Amino acid sequence: MRLMCFTLYAAIFMFSHSQAGAIPVLSQNLIVTGPSKLALESALRVGKEGGNPVDVAVAYALTLAVTHPYFGSIGGGGFAMINMDGKPTALDFREEAPSATSPDYYLKKRTGEKASWTGGAAVGVPGVPHGLWTLHQKFGSLKWTKLFDEALKYSKYGFPVSSEWYSVTKRKQNKFWKEGAHHLIPDGKLPLPGDILKQPGLYKTLKKFRNQGPKGFYEGAVAQDIVDSVLASNGDMKIEDMKSYVSKWRAPLTTDFEGKKVYLMPPPSAGGVVIKTALELVKKQNLKKYKLLSIDELHLLSEIMSASFRGRALLGDPDFHKNPVDFLTSEKYIQKLNSKISRWRVANRKPLSESKTYESDQTTHFVVMNKKGQAVSMTLTLNGNYGSGVISKKYGVALNNEMDDFTTRPGVPNAYKLVQGMGNKVEPKKRPLSSMSPTLVLNKKGETIIAVGAPGGPRIINGTFQTIYRTMVTGLNMERAIFTPRLHHQFQPRVTFYERDRFSPYVLKALEKRGHKLKPIHGVAIAYGAKKNDEGLLEAAADFRGEGFTGGL
Ligand code: DON
Repeated sequence: MRLMCFTLYAAIFMFSHSQAGAIPVLSQNLIVTGPSKLALESALRVGKEGGNPVDVAVAYALTLAVTHPYFGSIGGGGFAMINMDGKPTALDFREEAPSATSPDYYLKKRTGEKASWTGGAAVGVPGVPHGLWTLHQKFGSLKWTKLFDEALKYSKYGFPVSSEWYSVTKRKQNKFWKEGAHHLIPDGKLPLPGDILKQPGLYKTLKKFRNQGPKGFYEGAVAQDIVDSVLASNGDMKIEDMKSYVSKWRAPLTTDFEGKKVYLMPPPSAGGVVIKTALELVKKQNLKKYKLLSIDELHLLSEIMSASFRGRALLGDPDFHKNPVDFLTSEKYIQKLNSKISRWRVANRKPLSESKTYESDQTTHFVVMNKKGQAVSMTLTLNGNYGSGVISKKYGVALNNEMDDFTTRPGVPNAYKLVQGMGNKVEPKKRPLSSMSPTLVLNKKGETIIAVGAPGGPRIINGTFQTIYRTMVTGLNMERAIFTPRLHHQFQPRVTFYERDRFSPYVLKALEKRGHKLKPIHGVAIAYGAKKNDEGLLEAAADFRGEGFTGGL
């Protein structure tokens, strides 16, 4: 009986769900928000055992790899922004182009399917295992092996598949490479919601990774299985490509905003440059003075997003391309953008780059923050749901299609209708330009007061920007900041996207009158955010636009 009472007590005090009604989940010591209930439970278990936010984040990501292989697989990549000591740093564990690729690789690689999207040629060398290991090596406090408990348990003994797992897998199953599909569709039968899915291949992979570190994934049997599967499905990866993969520490871009310091993801993300530009324009336009969701505010927000996205086409992997970040964030350039913004009319902006292409469909984000002000904001992606559709034959690793984020065909827009430049052309060992924008905001003491990020292709940038804007300028709590309707403008196409059924026809008409070409969309990104509130409590929320679970200690 006493044990039962204690268990009940622990359950209540460890875990509280995010709920509708603009009330964020509050907690005192640690808060976690992200897409998965099971990953949240493993994260809180690690927190209870004394793990710091990095330990908690690694355990979260490992469980996600089992329960959410469509966007959280270790066959993907990601970015993290970390603050453990008042000096945030960014980790880039984005996928890398195999050495056999070249700028015209996809022009030559003609198949029925788009080769940069489906099959082995779409796969970049995965970065997640190296990223998690590197993060833990530098900042972790608990033993590495302790972070795998749930990931191993759920892969070996199975986990009940969620509605989302079922819907996504049902939709994507026809695109699976047939030799690997059995890992997710055992005996050719798609598990229904609530059915238990065991993944013995992935279990073996995770055990090797736990016991041997990155060698267990990038060398030996798992690496060979990944390479063999890529080769057998129209790709060109070599074992050396796997062996040479390393994640990279990057210096965050920073900007002062509302008396706080914002830490933004630098290239190969475009997110930092665009958000920094947008925050500068918010200041110059004194956007604060307009009412929440008023026509003026929405018009100017859209214009700011459009102007800020203009520079994106000049960016690429900083190890291959000289990014004009200083120019794009200079007072002179931002002043020029600002001078073209009119309160009454959409501006006609010329592109900075004449070269055209597009970007791509599923990703995820989660946030961990503690009362000391330490935090991890991490975005993980395979690009599209289940990426390339290739699941490695023996070890069950779902592999990304991040290669489609490169400028694969100059002049042709990508899956996200993004127009990209030649700084992002395909080159061996290069990382494709991304929109992922894990972001932290620190106070003067170096404590994290806001941690935020989102999935959503290029909408990530504007979803993150508007969440920061709503918390820091409008002054909303995290739940309301995330709930508030959002717009999206990515400069090209010249369209103001708005969330369907969330704006009044009167407002939309008024925006049209100012020159906006409007188009409804389902949602602008799926944001996850945490904040230290005025009482010193940690508050967090997950976006109703996707699945989300929030809890704390
Ligand atoms: O790195 C990027 O920008 C894209 N691969 C992210 C894709 C994405 O967010 C799709 N999610 N809904």
